[in-house]
Amino acid sequence: MSIDFDTGRAPVHVLRDISLTVPAGEIVGIVGESGSGKSTLALAIMRLLSGNARVTAGRIIFDDKDILKLTEDAMREIRGRRIAMVFQDPMTSLNPVRSIGRQMLDIQRHGADGNTASKRSKAAAVLKRVGIPDADQQLDNYAFQFSGGMRQRIAIAMGMIEKPEILIADEVTTALDVTLEAQILHLLRELRDEIGCAILFISHNLGAVAELCDRVLVLYAGEVVEQGPITDIFYRPQHPYSRALIACDPARISEVTRDLPVIAGEVPNLAAIPRGCIFSPRCTLASDLCHREAPAMFEVGNGHFARCHFAEAVAPR
Ligand SMILES: Nc1ncnc2c1ncn2[C@@H]1O[C@H](COP(=O)(O)OP(=O)(O)O)[C@@H](O)[C@H]1O
Ligand SMILES: [Mg+2]
Repeated sequence: MSIDFDTGRAPVHVLRDISLTVPAGEIVGIVGESGSGKSTLALAIMRLLSGNARVTAGRIIFDDKDILKLTEDAMREIRGRRIAMVFQDPMTSLNPVRSIGRQMLDIQRHGADGNTASKRSKAAAVLKRVGIPDADQQLDNYAFQFSGGMRQRIAIAMGMIEKPEILIADEVTTALDVTLEAQILHLLRELRDEIGCAILFISHNLGAVAELCDRVLVLYAGEVVEQGPITDIFYRPQHPYSRALIACDPARISEVTRDLPVIAGEVPNLAAIPRGCIFSPRCTLASDLCHREAPAMFEVGNGHFARCHFAEAVAPR
């Protein structure tokens, strides 16, 4: 899938040829610096992109249908129920002027399991499940009456209440301290196990991605540069960008570099994509070939791919 933003000047090619599969029940991570296109990808799946966004190529298949072609009514049935999203700032997920309980009633399908009382008790049960004490009473409170960590739990409860098939979590732990982050990651994993939903976990925090995900995509300036099982990416990174991110010792990621390290050089201008490998201007390995020709995705291991001329392709056995 490819997405442009119209800006009045040359369109900005924010995502180019992104291909990703989120298998049922799996936790897939997307990692990349700020501005690499992670949120754009998430919002495209939810069909919540801003008006100046254009999907220039591709499809988003959910339940055998192209999400991009659904009517707004059909999309409303899916959004928040079958595909739910939680944002970095829980105040984005939560409505400030409606009580938590009111919002949790609204999300529940009309007519499903009948009356208000049963919906309310379901809402309380889900709140309790994500660790909100006195859930029954808390239903009548408003988002601002909770701490940041509690708000994020409530936002996750709302995401989970209809037992979605996919939960998209966009930087949900970024604003939280380390202890709260660990609790939220633990909660997400438990909920995945209980509900069996897939999670698309977006973060620029490698430690969090390493802890939670089964597979990961490394996004750089709107392109997937490497993807594969989490252990392959962390122990055998093949793309120089992933290597730079992961630095040398994967075991120490969560202690030392909680955030992505800063890599020298600037991200390319996405209104005028240069020839060659998108990372070549910042790459210490780049050769003439890299500046001239964009590399293909090479399979470098079982289900592990890297977009680099120097990636070690899997040797035929
Ligand atoms: N509505 C928009 N119009 C123009 N450019 C946008 C718009 N939304 C995002 N962008 C640009 O698209 C790029 C990707 O943004 P985003 O998806 O938010 O990245 P990330 O979530 O990885 O930080 C950034 O360069 C950002 O400035
Ligand atoms: Mg973002």
